[in-house]
Amino acid sequence: MSNVLAAVAWPYANGPRHIGHVSGFGVPSDVFSRYMRMAGHDVLMVSGTDEHGTPILVQADDEGLTPQQAVDKYHRVIAGDLVALGLSYDLYTRTTTRNHRAVVQELFETLDRNGYIRTETTMGAISPSTGRTLPDRYIEGTCPICGAAGARGDQCDTCGNQLDPADLVDPRSKINGEVPEFRETEHMFLDLSAFSGALHDWLDTREGWRPNVLRFSQNLVADLRPRAITRDLDWGVPIPREGWDTKRFYVWFDAVIGYLSASVEWARRSGDPDAWQRFWKDKSQAYYFLGKDNIVFHSLIWPSILFGYNGGGSRGGEPGPRGALNLPTEVVSSEFLTMEGRKFSSSRRVVIYVRDFLERYDADALRYFIAVAGPESTDTDFTWAEFVRRNNDELVAGWGNLVNRSVSMAAKNFGAVPPVDPAGLTAADEALLAAARAAFVTVGDLIARHRHKQAVGEAMRVVAEANRYLSEQAPWKLKDAADKPRMGTVLHVALQVISDANTLLTPFLPHAAQRIHEALGGTGVHAPMPVLTEVDDLDGGPGYPVITGDYAVGARWESVPVAVGAALAAPTPVFRKLDPSVVEEELARLGG
Ligand code: MF3
Ligand code: ZN
Repeated sequence: MSNVLAAVAWPYANGPRHIGHVSGFGVPSDVFSRYMRMAGHDVLMVSGTDEHGTPILVQADDEGLTPQQAVDKYHRVIAGDLVALGLSYDLYTRTTTRNHRAVVQELFETLDRNGYIRTETTMGAISPSTGRTLPDRYIEGTCPICGAAGARGDQCDTCGNQLDPADLVDPRSKINGEVPEFRETEHMFLDLSAFSGALHDWLDTREGWRPNVLRFSQNLVADLRPRAITRDLDWGVPIPREGWDTKRFYVWFDAVIGYLSASVEWARRSGDPDAWQRFWKDKSQAYYFLGKDNIVFHSLIWPSILFGYNGGGSRGGEPGPRGALNLPTEVVSSEFLTMEGRKFSSSRRVVIYVRDFLERYDADALRYFIAVAGPESTDTDFTWAEFVRRNNDELVAGWGNLVNRSVSMAAKNFGAVPPVDPAGLTAADEALLAAARAAFVTVGDLIARHRHKQAVGEAMRVVAEANRYLSEQAPWKLKDAADKPRMGTVLHVALQVISDANTLLTPFLPHAAQRIHEALGGTGVHAPMPVLTEVDDLDGGPGYPVITGDYAVGARWESVPVAVGAALAAPTPVFRKLDPSVVEEELARLGG
């Protein structure tokens, strides 16, 4: 048994999240965490809303809100969406807490003391109309290298070169078209080059990573350059240095530290302020879940911050006051989801927000689609036709129907879970039971290695075998008094395999799993659910909603014998069949 940190990417508070977002970080991290808990590991799953940075300021301006009002609004919306999906965070918090600010400043102090921070004068772009800094990617112009129009301040997508915004020909603000002004400004840099050696050696020892994630990271190690960790902004974590009050830490510097600050906040709220340590030290493991646009920050920058904090870069140093912290065991990055063949885009209405999705469909239907057809290791397209097909053929006709007809038949003929008759089990009975039991090892191992597609496929194979078994054994024909004991045996076997398949599918379909558990006569919590609750800031700031939950209860990852004699009633269908007209309706909602 191990201590396992499940560190989930922090969604930006600049709007509601769409299903592409949750397919990358949300569902995969929850499937993993639920399984690991069921398998007996001590799991801490943390994340929160990423509330700093220019995109928040732009959104707040658009809506006529202050940045604080905007993040208050979207933190609440996003947390509501994540809880509705059943994502079992131990703590889902936010980056505008006092606790987070303190932990960010504390890590900065140690990085500085260990010699990994330096200050330099640079040319920064300013918006003349607002006086605010214009981040590199909000500046557009002609590429000084290849001459292409539409190059961004950080890079030219035509020739692929990294750019400096001050070199762009004819630069313009993407926000309002004005010509930016360039001024000298001081910034602090994290000297990433001091971590090249440490990162290189560390990446060399990584096992089990998706090959493209590892290769991508390794390729970047050689030419790491110092990276600015401050911005000319008034929205963000303050820099604890005199004369730096017009600047804030760069959003990515503060956000990745959220994994640690959220763990600390969780511990403080648990009543044991040191409890975070068992997920950050010694033999504990740490899995980070994110979309591929976030790889660099998790496989290079966050590890660099940790190396620097531990005193493990080329300039040495001593670990900070918290002691040496663990680096990621694995960076689990998913690929992109597209929507009906196009990139998700809120402005072009090529989007479905989680909230709207869940108003019309069940959380488990989406979770299932993401697990079985999501962007696990290649870019993947979401289509409504495929969503409806999988829901109807696989969830309703495959799994739901197996549960429904078996429980109904047992309820009608026995009123309870029937016993195995004295004649005992046939070879066919034994084979099916053995297949279900064996799947605990296969499916569990696949989930632990983040192969959810294969894992759910193996679990659904047990379902298919059970359906085949029922067709072959045809218990509905065993109605005569002489045959009835055998009917009981067949239904007993079917119910046992349903119970096993239900456990195997619990990490993917927790809401349905609870209902099936009850349909089988079970009581109590089978799949624990997160709750959204209002808390006080621990350090006197304003209160806020968090997601948390008690996940110590619930099913274990094992076959549990069905309770012979437990009363059964005809169940209500577990999954909802969707009318094919849904496809047309949903397509009509998308922008042309
Ligand atoms: N907010 C970022 C995004 O949505 C992800 C931040 S993950 C972090 O792309 F925790 F590292 F910050
Ligand atoms: Zn170019």
